[in-house]
Amino acid sequence: MTQSRESENRSARPFPTARPSGCPFDPPAPFAEAREECPVTPLRYPDGHLGRLVTGLQSARAVLGDVRFSSLPAGKRSPVKVPGSELSTDALPAGMFVNMDPPEHTRYRRLLSKHFTLRRVRELRPRIQEMTDRLLDNTESSGGPVDLVEAFAKPLPMLVTSELLGLPEEDRAPFGHHVDVLFSLSSSGEEMQQSMVLLAGMLHALINAARKEPGPDILGRLTVETELTDEELLGITTVLLIAGLETTTHMLALGTYALLRHPEQLAALRADWSLMDDAVEELLRYLSVVQIGPIRVAAEDFEFEGQSIRKGEVVTVSLPAANRDPQGFEDPDTFDIRRGTTRHVAFGSGPHQCMGHHLARLELSIGYESLLRRFPRLELAVPAQDIGTREMMVTYGVPKLPVRW
Ligand code: HEM
Repeated sequence: MTQSRESENRSARPFPTARPSGCPFDPPAPFAEAREECPVTPLRYPDGHLGRLVTGLQSARAVLGDVRFSSLPAGKRSPVKVPGSELSTDALPAGMFVNMDPPEHTRYRRLLSKHFTLRRVRELRPRIQEMTDRLLDNTESSGGPVDLVEAFAKPLPMLVTSELLGLPEEDRAPFGHHVDVLFSLSSSGEEMQQSMVLLAGMLHALINAARKEPGPDILGRLTVETELTDEELLGITTVLLIAGLETTTHMLALGTYALLRHPEQLAALRADWSLMDDAVEELLRYLSVVQIGPIRVAAEDFEFEGQSIRKGEVVTVSLPAANRDPQGFEDPDTFDIRRGTTRHVAFGSGPHQCMGHHLARLELSIGYESLLRRFPRLELAVPAQDIGTREMMVTYGVPKLPVRW
């Protein structure tokens, strides 16, 4: 139903971030209230802008698949004010294709997607298994308890990404540090700026090295097979870094936590490892770690699902809300590893759908299975109420996960 601008202004809500007490895996309750009213509702942005919030599964797919909802940075704003989510409208480096629309976006996607096909990703399985086993050897030999985020969930995606980009061993620690600073709630603006500059410097050095001596990794291949400029390669490598690290890290840690908090589901998985792929899908749906965005800006005035969208309106899709839509999933708030559906939007949808989804799925299934097999008696090393959560971050998760075995 089309509401007048005035009534939209009156009914606009702020973007909710507080998770319900008791269940750290459920999205903030106001999302369900908004969705019951309408899958697309008025949203008040922190600077007063009146935009939209999308909470329904079908509407989320429709917005993300409609290029009239642009991914360009101009006019974009975050629905919450958190460090690291400030979206700058300044010129971004060429090659940051996540912030582009077709046809420019399509051009980069085509050049890159062949490195992320199912076939290509399957070839990585033995290497990922090897890296996982090595990390678990170190974890086990420490005797425990350990913080699983630091010991396992952070280093595994870092090792995989480093291998994809050809990052030398000695650069991995400083690289990880700068990425941490960029994503940390406690970093100051200056610290972030400094890490951004240092990270760009390291990536430039990596690109120069790949041009001189191209390796078999993605960067090496791109320098040989394409005409991409250094600036474009900088943008691409930045996107790959930002997109693939935090998300996978927090899925690994939060997913393990969710399994430990649902012992009957964990027991079912331990009893039948062939449920692993379904369990990964259900964890992706149930946890939906990308909790702020995707964000789009209406590129023109148009009618969408009976509502008048105005050019410049900022639309935030809530993936956690869409993935708990009762119209899309039966009993959506129940965590059920036998649900057997891939219809969720944890990886987004449409032209910008996650390019690394095969890789992420592989890392998660190898990661969870190897961890759970290695430690048959894995358990929390602190009471559950002492495990914090990352509510004010783009990627939801647990800052620490102390475990013993
Ligand atoms: C569980 C882990 C992951 C989750 C939940 C996730 C989620 C997402 C989501 C929701 C988007 C859509 C953004 C939008 O529509 O604006 C996205 C895009 C993207 N992801 Fe992932 N991601 C994960 C892992 C990865 C990995 C491992 C990589 C590979 C290095 C990767 C690479 C990308 C890229 C390149 C894009 C941008 C695609 C484009 O704009 O065309 N992601 N991801």
